[in-house]
Amino acid sequence: MKAAWMRSSMLLAALLSGAASSSVSAQTAGEKLFGQQCAACHAVAADAPMGMGPNLRGIMGRSAGTLAGFPYSNEFKKGLAGKAWTAAQLDAWLEDPQNLAPGTYMMYKQSDAAVRNSIIDYLQTVK
Ligand code: HEC
Repeated sequence: MKAAWMRSSMLLAALLSGAASSSVSAQTAGEKLFGQQCAACHAVAADAPMGMGPNLRGIMGRSAGTLAGFPYSNEFKKGLAGKAWTAAQLDAWLEDPQNLAPGTYMMYKQSDAAVRNSIIDYLQTVK
């Protein structure tokens, strides 16, 4: 069930980014994927209330685990200590958070690199 859902969202992403080569359509695909796969736990609006996960506005370049007021797990703080969010770091995180921080509260992983890239492209625009 979950796999079928992920396949259809990937198909949608492929359709959207293939429809035109402008960055606007790529952004729309990533934004959609973010809405489907991340938004239940993560907000990006500046004034959003605290969610299950930290707000991701301005995540690119931010030091991991530094959003004021968010109760990061000790496992997260240990695994990501001293790291900042680059595209490569995010890619590794989304592929399997448990690899970087065993025991982290983030229950998600994404084996499809195209889906990860699309979401990361979107996050670059959320400043
Ligand atoms: C089921 C809820 C859930 C989902 C779905 C989820 N996350 Fe998370 N995320 C979390 C939690 C909880 C944390 C904090 C982890 C901890 O403290 O162990 C986190 C942490 C993060 C962080 C670290 C942020 C910081 O302040 O350093 C990033 C980046 C992140 N998530 C990105 C994503 C993206 C992108 C997606 C979608 C592809 C996603 N997450 C999906 C719950 C989730």
